[in-house]
Amino acid sequence: MNKPIVYVTCKMTGAAVVRLAETFTVRYRNQTVAAAPEELAKNITDVDAVLCYLDDRFDASVMAQAPVLKAVANVAVGYDNIDIPEATRRGILVLNTPGVLTDATADLTLALLLDAARRVTQADRYVRNGQWKGWTPDLMLGQELRGKTLGIIGMGRIGEAVAKRAVAFGMKISYTRRGNEGEDARLLQEFGAVRLSLGELLKTSDAVSVHCPLNQETRHLIGITEFATMKSNCIFVNTARGAVADQKALIEALKNKQIAAAGLDVFEDEPNVPHELMEMDNVVLVPHIGSATIETRTAMTDLAANGLISAFTGTIPDNTVNREAWSSKPTPSRA
Ligand code: GLV
Repeated sequence: MNKPIVYVTCKMTGAAVVRLAETFTVRYRNQTVAAAPEELAKNITDVDAVLCYLDDRFDASVMAQAPVLKAVANVAVGYDNIDIPEATRRGILVLNTPGVLTDATADLTLALLLDAARRVTQADRYVRNGQWKGWTPDLMLGQELRGKTLGIIGMGRIGEAVAKRAVAFGMKISYTRRGNEGEDARLLQEFGAVRLSLGELLKTSDAVSVHCPLNQETRHLIGITEFATMKSNCIFVNTARGAVADQKALIEALKNKQIAAAGLDVFEDEPNVPHELMEMDNVVLVPHIGSATIETRTAMTDLAANGLISAFTGTIPDNTVNREAWSSKPTPSRA
């Protein structure tokens, strides 16, 4: 029996591609930048599975070009690049990579928060530009984290890992999360964390960090009104998805000093970063590197590849986003 075909859309970290070859005929696009939608669509017309990245967009028109596609493994925890209802309708399993990037993303969140609070990148530019003429008592004064309140929007795995780190810096934690109150007592006990409405959290936090997924409910969750309620010393950090905040409203809030600073890993139209943000000294900008450690990227690729192998050898993997699509199981016999 012919092996099913897997298309790997981008260069992979680690050895997962070798393991994939045991179950699949691997078609490997060994390039670092995502393909344009037309190239993606052209390359998946006869494939059974795809291993892709967050810059690959699987919308209805792309999936329509892939009549035998049965599974897409996204090497990311977020999957807003994939039209899940359409994938489910077509019986295409969607896999993601939860859990393995929690610590790396939480580390970067704290790095951005500390950087914005203590002006590290700004100070680095100052030294490199030859502006440093000597120590002065008011040079590059920033904010301390100790005793301040961090408002976490989306207290899931990553939010909780951020809380743990922030508590070690002496911060108080408040949060919003979906779902019932079941976890609230544990979060209060472990981190002294208090669940608030979004409005209360924004009004009372000295720093706000976003950790919710991007979907219809969270797109532009933080807009003009929300930025206007934040404290003027507030540092806004986003390592989730750019579009959870309205980027234009964020720029206005920074310009008008409604908030003090921002640390941003994600943007609304990546890789484009508005020049207004580039010109602001109180904003730290990094290129979507939340999970970018060798260990984490290897673990993500392994999890995605193992999920595809598992699905095509008859077991639904735990990291499946749309279990409902399993009714049209992707076994090799269907390939
Ligand atoms: C990265 O942004 C991810 O969703 O894994």
